[in-house]
Amino acid sequence: MKGITKKFGDFVANDSIDLTVHKGEIHALLGENGAGKTTLMNVLYGLYMPTEGNIFIKGDKVEVTSPNVAIEKGIGMVHQHFMLIDTFTVVENIILGMETTIKKGSWDTKCIDIERATKEVEKLSKKYSLHVDPKAKIQDISVGMQQRVEILKALYRGADILILDEPTAVLTPQEVEELIQIIKNLTKQGKTIIIITHKLKEIKQAADYCTIIRRGKKINTVKVSNVTEENLAEMMVGRQVSFAVDKKDIEKGEVVLNIDNIIIKDNRKLNAVNGLSLKVHRGEILGIAGVDGNGQSEFLEGITGLRPIESGKVVLNGENIVNTSPRHIMKKGMCNIPEDRQKRGLILDFSIAENMILEIYDKEPFSKNGRLNHKNIEEHARKLIGKFDVRPQNEKQAVGALSGGNQQKVIIAREVTNDPDVLIAAQPTRGLDVGAIEFVHKYLVEQRDNGKAVLLISFELDEILNLSDRIAVIYNGKIVDILDRKDANEKKLGYLMAGGGVENGRKEA
Ligand SMILES: Nc1ncnc2c1ncn2[C@@H]1O[C@H](COP(=O)(O)OP(=O)(O)OP(=O)(O)O)[C@@H](O)[C@H]1O
Ligand SMILES: [Mg+2]
Repeated sequence: MKGITKKFGDFVANDSIDLTVHKGEIHALLGENGAGKTTLMNVLYGLYMPTEGNIFIKGDKVEVTSPNVAIEKGIGMVHQHFMLIDTFTVVENIILGMETTIKKGSWDTKCIDIERATKEVEKLSKKYSLHVDPKAKIQDISVGMQQRVEILKALYRGADILILDEPTAVLTPQEVEELIQIIKNLTKQGKTIIIITHKLKEIKQAADYCTIIRRGKKINTVKVSNVTEENLAEMMVGRQVSFAVDKKDIEKGEVVLNIDNIIIKDNRKLNAVNGLSLKVHRGEILGIAGVDGNGQSEFLEGITGLRPIESGKVVLNGENIVNTSPRHIMKKGMCNIPEDRQKRGLILDFSIAENMILEIYDKEPFSKNGRLNHKNIEEHARKLIGKFDVRPQNEKQAVGALSGGNQQKVIIAREVTNDPDVLIAAQPTRGLDVGAIEFVHKYLVEQRDNGKAVLLISFELDEILNLSDRIAVIYNGKIVDILDRKDANEKKLGYLMAGGGVENGRKEA
């Protein structure tokens, strides 16, 4: 890519970027939230036409006017948010739009040749060690598995150059390891990988080269073996980043949230949360560590009023809030940074300003006598945009057009500003750059230092260990152990997370 510039109105998302990628390499793209990484890859994949600049593939200048052209030229892309059809099977998704048909019966009817397609998919999946069940429905398989389907989909279309936009943001640590193996394997078979990630560790582990982009401009392309994680972070944000969290000693206060023996069912009507008890104190960050799928999502939905609780009590500030409304729970002092920011955290078509007041729109000075006061709403948003460094700094911008990380900042700004007694933070730094992570961690610690309680749910053990005062381990819908931070380490937690602390834990697992 040579001299690629992409403007949205007056805003320059990519500013004359050069990117050279060689066959067979893993090339990482690194940059802060909103730096322009996804935009650059969307240009390469033909989703956007560049305002200026040219693309050369295998030496030939190519006008990539649509994804179809990109696919024809051997480019495949797995997007930051997956694009699969939930009710279709793996094979049906992979062949969608490229079905071969077969004549069936004596009539002139044509059917999709699903058998042949299944065989082809099986062959492909074997060749690249991407194990999937071709007949499974997307809705029944894990996120990691869905990602393999996306990769297979691209390979099925003949991709030689595969773009992966933050593929590891949604994966568990175990799945990340597997993915890294998969892409290394792919390059051995002559494929070329461009991978966007915020995880410096992954870049060190997997990539050959790394191109750093800051505010739409290319800063440098470096050979990964020649740089440290600190070097990368510094190039990316333009200053030194601290990886350690500064915390003063804990001043644990009274119990503000008391969860007593709750049972919550999942969508299949099985007990996902199965007699879970937990006490959360003022002035502490309580981390919940666990492998995905041990009831975390149902637990979160239950205590925030989004899913019925079958039995048990959740006492918040002295009141049992079981099965009351989300709005009531919020008013009683519990706020929530949800796991899925696009589905649960934001209204994508609304502006930043409107999203900032979703929970307080009915209060003065934002409304009076049932009418919104837009001047005050926008002023409120401008303050938060400045304080939380949301980019672009335009309160009228629709949230859907923000980069993933900036969407997260909008949620955090809103929830922290509500000044809750209990802040639930579920995967609060998913998809954030290292600078933004440092920033979010600072705000969570600030809440705690102000005598609030923070309940942190994260798959990142580093994050749990860095932030928590106490760590509860969830396994099979129960808290199996609670450790003081000083007694916890990665190994111990890993053992408990795998069911090691439970009688017959191995059998159950
Ligand atoms: N369709 C669009 N209309 C207007 N602005 C856009 C559009 N798409 C992207 N932008 C803006 O361009 C900038 C770059 O966005 P992009 O999505 O490329 O960032 P990114 O580097 O991928 O960030 P993240 O790490 O958060 O995913 C952002 O400020 C974003 O708001
Ligand atoms: Mg992006």
